[in-house]
Amino acid sequence: YLANKGKHRHFMEKEIYEQPEAIGHVLTHYVSLIENRADPVPSFDFTSIPSLAISACGTAYLAGLIGKYWFERYARLPVEIDVASEFRYREIPFSPQSAALFISQSGETADTLASLRYCKKLGLKIGAVVNSAESSIAREADAVFPILAGPEIGVASTKAFTCQLAVLAALAISAARTRGTVTENEVQALVRSLAEMPRIMGQVLNSIQPKIELLARELSKYHDVLYLGRGTSFPLAMEGALKLKEISYIHAEGYAAGELKHGPIALIDKNMPVIVIAPFDRFFNKTVSNMEEVAARGGRVILITDEKGATASKLDTMHTIVLPAVDEIIAPMIFSLPIQLLAYHTAVFMGTDVDQPRNLAKSVTVE
Ligand code: AGP
Repeated sequence: YLANKGKHRHFMEKEIYEQPEAIGHVLTHYVSLIENRADPVPSFDFTSIPSLAISACGTAYLAGLIGKYWFERYARLPVEIDVASEFRYREIPFSPQSAALFISQSGETADTLASLRYCKKLGLKIGAVVNSAESSIAREADAVFPILAGPEIGVASTKAFTCQLAVLAALAISAARTRGTVTENEVQALVRSLAEMPRIMGQVLNSIQPKIELLARELSKYHDVLYLGRGTSFPLAMEGALKLKEISYIHAEGYAAGELKHGPIALIDKNMPVIVIAPFDRFFNKTVSNMEEVAARGGRVILITDEKGATASKLDTMHTIVLPAVDEIIAPMIFSLPIQLLAYHTAVFMGTDVDQPRNLAKSVTVE
């Protein structure tokens, strides 16, 4: 695998384009879990736990943050989440009946492993959402939920992120089903939405590249970028900013769109593009008002939305990236694609070492 980037210039690009297939593997493995037709993982009982703790670092943490929205909304399961380096020092008052999930591509991240050991000592049931089944985090967990992404070589995580999301979505739906917080019809509708991901991802990857390259060429001239989103698009905004800063070295921040007025609006001018992630969901109109606030202050808006959102928004943007309109549960995975490609092509324009960005390691084994 190491020697083979196929037709791609970088492993990161290859890994972005592998996502439809990787997500297909996740679905094959996990849909049967949701439907109770098989038990592909050691039992991890979501039914009786009072709360769930999630801990991870970097991109894996942001996947967990999106997972929190799903566990709380669908399974009515309260989630306590933090970055692993803070989580284990906060002295969170856990009930010993609680369970904890640790998310890690490598399965070797020092802070995440230390958080796992901390929770184990407290007597919590431990689940690991990992890419590497042979890793320390997998070995020390009671239940392993593999993300089945295949090897990820690029230091900037791409397919591991969407596979982590797909696994978390499946676990949240499965938890909702066993906790009786959704109807059987709702479960079936959610599963049908998940099953659409590989096809829609393929369609998006085949169509948006020319537009993203144009945008990336422009973005590469700026020094600061702000990403905004609401709901599950908020962690995605942070992931967009993380991806861009990691590989292009452009300073970027991700904010909840509703927080704009509480500080970052002071930064708005023509020199800081604002990338707004806004699928046509129940937050769309509110996010559009934030876009208007940016535009009214001379800010340049790049809107990433879907067909319905593009029709509904009348705002004059610097660029609009239009994706197919999809069900809410799969929007974070689909909207990850333009975000990853934008960071990738911007870095390529800037001539950075995309697969091995400066100062970063693929697996951070020191605290
Ligand atoms: C992602 O692009 C990063 N390189 C980084 O944030 C990474 O997600 C983090 O270090 C966690 O790694 P892990 O998933 O292997 O635990």
